[in-house]
Amino acid sequence: MRPSERLSRIPPYLFAELERKIAAKKAEGVDVISLGIGDPDRPTPALIVEAMQEAVTEAETHTYPSNRGRHDFRSALSDFYERRFDVQIDPETEVIPAIGAKEAIFNLNLAFLNPGDAALASDPGYPVYTAGPLLAGADAVVMPLLAELGFTPDLDAISAADRARAKLMYINYPNNPTGAVVPDGFFERVIEFAAANDILVVHDNAYSETTYDGYRAPSFLATPGAKEVGIEVFSLSKGYNMTGWRCAAVLGNAEAVETFWRLKTNIDSGLFEAVQLAGVAALSPDCDAEVASMNELYRIRRDLVCAALSEIGIEVRPPHGTIYVWAPIPAGFQSSAAYCEHVLDQAAVVISPGSAYGPSGEGWFRISLTTPDHRLREAVKRLAAL
Ligand SMILES: Cc1ncc(COP(=O)(O)O)c(C=O)c1O
Repeated sequence: MRPSERLSRIPPYLFAELERKIAAKKAEGVDVISLGIGDPDRPTPALIVEAMQEAVTEAETHTYPSNRGRHDFRSALSDFYERRFDVQIDPETEVIPAIGAKEAIFNLNLAFLNPGDAALASDPGYPVYTAGPLLAGADAVVMPLLAELGFTPDLDAISAADRARAKLMYINYPNNPTGAVVPDGFFERVIEFAAANDILVVHDNAYSETTYDGYRAPSFLATPGAKEVGIEVFSLSKGYNMTGWRCAAVLGNAEAVETFWRLKTNIDSGLFEAVQLAGVAALSPDCDAEVASMNELYRIRRDLVCAALSEIGIEVRPPHGTIYVWAPIPAGFQSSAAYCEHVLDQAAVVISPGSAYGPSGEGWFRISLTTPDHRLREAVKRLAAL
């Protein structure tokens, strides 16, 4: 068997050694607590589940869906964008459902990149920003997110050669893994940069609904000029506890949305219509209280984790968004991986090495807030005793 060359371009899986150790510990009977994965532990809100239950009983949802999506789902996305972000989306031309943000981001590479082209990718970042361009036969050029710039890239530092071959740029706020929210003026600078260099901006909006302390995350599309140069990938996974449902959308620039649709018609057969109807329920104002109560749960967990880190001498600024706490590894450890192995060995707690999210994640680690309260409290006690 000979896997493709494109698959061999993907770097080795950085969690492999950590996963081996976790499995060995569990086999020894050790009670390992994982704070690694960002997958909401609470169930999908009942009103969404009920909408799904009703929808699956309708035979009209059982056939191949249209790849353009149901009109009522596209309208619900458009209404939500208006209500939530003050952004106007034409439901006929400016939105297409996707089978998750991950699928959309991967397919955008196939839709826009040729061999020799590049995508500019936030580093650290969600791994598909770099794997996607490689699998499409193109290149990924990482843009280090600088703590001193509020975890945004220095756009001026992107070389002329990279500007010339870049056709896509991946950004994401609220940001995984750093928890950063977008600093004032950053989206404006991105739009100017993209217009000057003919680059399509892809804003990954996976966490806009998960925020704290009164902060409301904006849509990239709310910035003047954004629709001329960009699109946004909106996902229902995290904000609505729907990771398993695969429900997302690509919105914004009509030409880019149409190009994405053209590619999709050759690859998949659309989003299950019952899931689209569940999405309509999720995006209605009736679900706002559910989202708010999830955020309060995460806020309490965030404060618990930040306090525990402080007790062991690691000071972090509590994030205003996402389900992650991003923190520097303590002095005395050679690498993120070495520190995460130490925490696993000494506390039987799994945390994610920052280097798993790109070279600029080295020296950091990530804690996810999606572990049930009693387990998180136990993990935090163990961390504080390190
Ligand atoms: C930044 C970011 N984008 C996208 C995703 C995946 O979203 P979806 O479940 O819609 O594929 C994740 C999941 O962790 C993420 O962190």
